[in-house]
Amino acid sequence: MATVKQHYEEVLADVYSWMYGGFENGLQRNREFIAKHRLTPKRSAIAVDLGAGSGFQSIPIAEAGYQVTAIDLSARLLDELKTNSKGLPINVVQGDLLEFDSIVNNKPELIVCMTDTIVHLDSKENVSALFSKVFNALEPCGKFVITFRDLTHELKDHDRFIPVRSDDNTVFTCFLEYEPETVKVHDIVYRKIDGKWNLSKSFFRKLRLSRDWVEGQLMQFGFKILVTDFENGFITIIGQK
Ligand SMILES: C[S@@+](CC[C@H](N)C(=O)[O-])C[C@H]1O[C@@H](n2cnc3c(N)ncnc32)[C@H](O)[C@@H]1O
Repeated sequence: MATVKQHYEEVLADVYSWMYGGFENGLQRNREFIAKHRLTPKRSAIAVDLGAGSGFQSIPIAEAGYQVTAIDLSARLLDELKTNSKGLPINVVQGDLLEFDSIVNNKPELIVCMTDTIVHLDSKENVSALFSKVFNALEPCGKFVITFRDLTHELKDHDRFIPVRSDDNTVFTCFLEYEPETVKVHDIVYRKIDGKWNLSKSFFRKLRLSRDWVEGQLMQFGFKILVTDFENGFITIIGQK
């Protein structure tokens, strides 16, 4: 099995922004998310983006007036973020999000961990450890935003083949193999290069976290749940310290 870092560097980084309908599309969805949830800065205006990827949250958050620290394992996605965020106050750090508290010294007003990043962690214990650190790090009334796909309901047989996206030059299919606590996510990408189809494939594991479990953990560490939402298979939870 590939590590998360290998999986992104070897298969996903090349197609990540394309998979979400292009870079601008990814930014626009998150600008709308910030406006919808009124996440504009009110106090320290310090934000941390855990698993920032190519910047789909970091860039809109910086545009909204925050000073952002963007942390991710993938050098290639972070390069894309840097290229697309010139002039914005974003400090880009390649590192493990579980260690964010040794990277960020000031008390953030906002910490986000979005689009499934939380289920990339290798155990529920590490998810809990992260929640505890986030609670301690936030300034009073600071907010923590999590979005992740609900993988608790098991797809069967051929429904486990997910057509992610395709066009004339790229075909991306995902295959899911369910385990009790995790799902093996096989990403299969065909790309046409110089007229020939090239295959990249790799799998990694995602955690099967339920909304109830995540909310329970957040509350246990002291968060008040401000928003809990379920749309198109995606769970959104916003907790406040
Ligand atoms: C599904 S992507 C989400 C990226 C971005 N938040 C977005 O919405 O486009 C998950 C990201 O988390 C990063 N990631 C996963 N585990 C990580 C870890 N332990 N530390 C830092 N980054 C991690 C991956 O490299 C990847 O960029």
